[in-house]
Amino acid sequence: MIKKLFNFFKNKEMGYNEKKYEYLMKNIDFSRLPKHIAIIMDGNGRWATKRGMLRAYGHRAGVEALRDIVKACSELKIPVLTVYAFSTENWKRPKEEVDALMNLLVEYVYKEVEELNKNKVKIRAIGRIHELPEKCQRAVKYAVEFTSKNTGLNFNLALNYGGRAELVDAMRKIGKKIQGGIIEIKEIDEKLISDHLYTKELPDPDLLIRPAGDYRISNFLIWQLAYTEFWYTDVMWPDFRRVDMLRAIYEFQQRERRFGGVPKKDK
Ligand code: FPP
Repeated sequence: MIKKLFNFFKNKEMGYNEKKYEYLMKNIDFSRLPKHIAIIMDGNGRWATKRGMLRAYGHRAGVEALRDIVKACSELKIPVLTVYAFSTENWKRPKEEVDALMNLLVEYVYKEVEELNKNKVKIRAIGRIHELPEKCQRAVKYAVEFTSKNTGLNFNLALNYGGRAELVDAMRKIGKKIQGGIIEIKEIDEKLISDHLYTKELPDPDLLIRPAGDYRISNFLIWQLAYTEFWYTDVMWPDFRRVDMLRAIYEFQQRERRFGGVPKKDK
């Protein structure tokens, strides 16, 4: 398995660096990988502007990075990957940029779905999908249905997603159930809230990756990230490749997760 993985990651076109890879491949414990990785795909705009291009080109380049990371997660048998593709706040961007992102989503889905399906990837969408343009809703529905029986990587696209909006939606669903006499107020606990989020049935992320040098949560999975390990890099999302993800995983494995408890050595 390790040899197969090593060959897979030894892809010279993808920012391959022999020493870096060798070190990571030798030192990552592949039996202890994160079960859920979440990514804030940041930096597309700056990446493009720096090259004198329109921001939309940055998003297009971001799709290449996404393709590589989905493949890598699939190959590593990471159970869940969630990426922040469009937030509830992103509507504030200029119309041309919003349109470009929506078109890119449609293009991405129809171009990639067969390949993703071949790799047994199961696509889901989280967010207020019903507020997206019709053509996006159709594309998302198609991808979700087409891959619904797959048993490989659970790949969540956060689209028109906001952590606060997700909590509002959950509260409304719970409120309705209380009103209808289906549940009682005293039944509200953390599990009940989790079970009413878009991510119900999925484990909380173990690792959050944010490229492009900012250190914010940006309204992403605010409930689910309570005990997630954060990992930041200055690499812009369009330049982000599997080696960067391996670095994140390696560093994640060096940390001790205490979930509010005490360090192991003090027990
Ligand atoms: C943040 O970078 C990125 C986004 C708002 C969009 C992310 C979208 C993609 C990577 C591609 C589209 C995805 C799919 C599924 C088709 P930014 O624009 O805020 O960058 P900046 O901080 O440098 O301005």
